[in-house]
Amino acid sequence: MVPIYNRFSLPPAYGSPSIARQGSNIIGIVPQDVRHVVAMTGASGIPYGVRLLRSLPGEKILVMSEMAKRILPTETDLTVADVESMADEVYQDDDLFAPIASGSYKHDGMVICPCSESTLGKIASGIADTLITRAASVCLKEGRQLVIVPRETPLSQIMIENELRVSRAGGIIVPASPAFYNKPKTVDDMVDFVVGKVLDRMGVDNHLFQRWA
Ligand SMILES: Cc1cc2nc3c(=O)[nH]c(=O)nc-3n(C[C@H](O)[C@H](O)[C@H](O)COP(=O)(O)O)c2cc1C
Repeated sequence: MVPIYNRFSLPPAYGSPSIARQGSNIIGIVPQDVRHVVAMTGASGIPYGVRLLRSLPGEKILVMSEMAKRILPTETDLTVADVESMADEVYQDDDLFAPIASGSYKHDGMVICPCSESTLGKIASGIADTLITRAASVCLKEGRQLVIVPRETPLSQIMIENELRVSRAGGIIVPASPAFYNKPKTVDDMVDFVVGKVLDRMGVDNHLFQRWA
C-alpha cells in the first residue's frame, strides 16, 4: 500500500509530492523520497523503536546508542544486525562526521524512540557530543521536526524541566504511555498504540491502533 501523508501544509524536503486519490477525492499527499532519522537510545522500550522503524515509510537513517544496542537483546530476540537491516543507512553514535550532524543535510525529521533521560537531558542542555544528541540539536536549530519518546517513571523535577525545555525549543514530547481504552489484548497492541501516536505526531497516516470512535 502506498504511504499516505497528511502533512498538507508541510512539503517534504525532497522531490515533488504527488496527490493520493481515492476515486475522484484527494485524500492526501505522498511525498517522494521522504527521509527520516530514527534514533534509539538506552531506555527500556526498544520494541517501540523497532516497530517504528518497521512502520515508517520512506528512507530511514538509523543511529543506535551503545546502550540501545546492549538493551536490545534483553527486550527482543533481535540482533543489532537485524535492526540495522530495517534501515537504509546506518551511522554509529560516535560518528560526528556523519551527514546528519550537519544542518546543511536535509531530511524530514528525526525521532528518538525510545529516548533515555540522559539523552533528553543532554538535548535540553545543548550538549551535542554524540551523533544522536548533535543531530537532535541540529533539528532544533534548523526548525526541523524532532519527536522524542521518553521512557522513564517516576520522573524527577529535573527530568520534567528537561522535557519542558525541549518542548519550548520546538521538540515534540510523546511519552511511551500505552492506553487501555482500546482494550489491548497483546503486548504488540500496546506497542502499536504508542508507535501509532508517534506516527500521528510526525504527520504519518497509520492504522496501528483503534481510534476512539
Ligand atoms: C536494562 C536497562 C534499562 C534502562 N532503562 C532506562 C529507561 O527506561 N529510561 C532511562 O532514561 N534510562 C534507562 N536506563 C539507563 C540508560 O541506559 C543510561 O542512562 C544510559 O547512560 C543512556 O545512554 P544513552 O542515552 O546514550 O543511550 C536503562 C539502563 C539499563 C541497563
